[in-house]
Amino acid sequence: MTTFASRTQSLDPIEIASRDEIAALQLARLSRTLRHAYDNVPHYRAKFAAAGVRPEDCRSLDDLKKFPFTTKTDLRDTYPFGMFAVPQERIARLHASSGTTGKPTVVAYSKADLDVWSEVVARSIRAAGGRPGMKVHVAYGYGLFTGGLGAHYGAERLGCTVIPVSGGMTERQVQLIHDFKPEIVMVTPSYMLAILDEFRRAGLDPRACSLEVGIFGAEPWTNAMRAEIEQAFDMHAVDIYGLSEVMGPGVSCECVETKDGPHIWEDHFYPEVIDPETGEVLPDGSPGELVFTSLTKEAMPIIRYRTRDLTRLLPGTARSMRRMERIAGRSDDMIILRGVNLFPSQIEEQTLKCETLSPHFQIELGRHERMDAMTVVVEARPHAASAAERERGARELAHHIKSVVGVTAAVRVVDPGGVERSQGKAKRIVDLRPKD
Ligand code: DLL
Repeated sequence: MTTFASRTQSLDPIEIASRDEIAALQLARLSRTLRHAYDNVPHYRAKFAAAGVRPEDCRSLDDLKKFPFTTKTDLRDTYPFGMFAVPQERIARLHASSGTTGKPTVVAYSKADLDVWSEVVARSIRAAGGRPGMKVHVAYGYGLFTGGLGAHYGAERLGCTVIPVSGGMTERQVQLIHDFKPEIVMVTPSYMLAILDEFRRAGLDPRACSLEVGIFGAEPWTNAMRAEIEQAFDMHAVDIYGLSEVMGPGVSCECVETKDGPHIWEDHFYPEVIDPETGEVLPDGSPGELVFTSLTKEAMPIIRYRTRDLTRLLPGTARSMRRMERIAGRSDDMIILRGVNLFPSQIEEQTLKCETLSPHFQIELGRHERMDAMTVVVEARPHAASAAERERGARELAHHIKSVVGVTAAVRVVDPGGVERSQGKAKRIVDLRPKD
């Protein structure tokens, strides 16, 4: 694997600034953002008034906690353009997230916002080990989803050669990686596994391919999955995080030399972690729900947006900006099975411990005698598809789930290729419970 030493000389000064300098910049930008939202978005003005606060009440970063949260419901209630803070002619681009139920949420960018977005994605790619002149294969979807275009403009900004493939057509993905020899790939981790399968099907050795770094995000994944991908491709795998409501990819990204959780680009996005039940702000290090306030966005400033993502804030290491722990899951994806809370990522981790099982899995939720029941449907590895090996894999996984996660799960091992492949974000939960 390529070795990446820490290289501070090419960084933005703010990436290695002192905490005091970062906090001073944040406070100045926060005050401006609160004022901008209040003056230009009637929805914010009404919410601030209902909470009895005005922008000038924010005199320290700590004062932010007096301001109301924003949720997906606020975006839905003001659909499509009610959260925008600049006239339409100043909006350079719209994106939208599909949302599994109801209306999509729409987000807007001014020219200056697109500039900042390119900058933070360029910074993310550089943190991951990218350098000007490298070729970047972008397999995040292009379109209303922020992944493809976000990665694209960031890679261009860094001075890379972009290969804008988008998602899907897996055979062609492999062909292009083989022929164009990119050093970097940007894609969801679950789709990278589909690309891996296709390498093997085509008789190509993934370890011999040109890829040095994969920048993976848009869905939860585990350190066990990182090890699987790094081993299979002889490449580095780093975590990039983001969400449309706050910007898109590049809100935070891991540094390749430490791989210890994404550094949040705190000069543009102010993080808080709250108790999801009470809304109380928790001290750094405590697990809870991640909340973001944009510090520089013009077209759609976002104040205290509740992400539903569960994590902790950690001190900076390779950069002075704080890190977030790899996202364990979203509160929306949490399964409560007979009183035990669990996330699909915990099942991923256990699956990868079993030598005969592949990382392709789905969780089926059903009901048995009025009790919720969980079945993990997982593919056998191609070399271990005999009935005896499947049986052994199923027993082993059920045992790990019981002893580590603490729930009883049935395991059904299926043929290689038997679990639906994602071309973007993986669908991990299939809910077959009768609707009552
Ligand atoms: O997924 C933006 C993105 C694109 C990030 C490409 C990284 C790479 P949305 O579609 O709005 O935006 O979905 C945002 O995806 O709230 C998390 O639940 C989840 N998510 C994104 N990155 C990660 C990650 C994009 N690295 C939602 N780890 C977020 C875990 C992630 N979950």
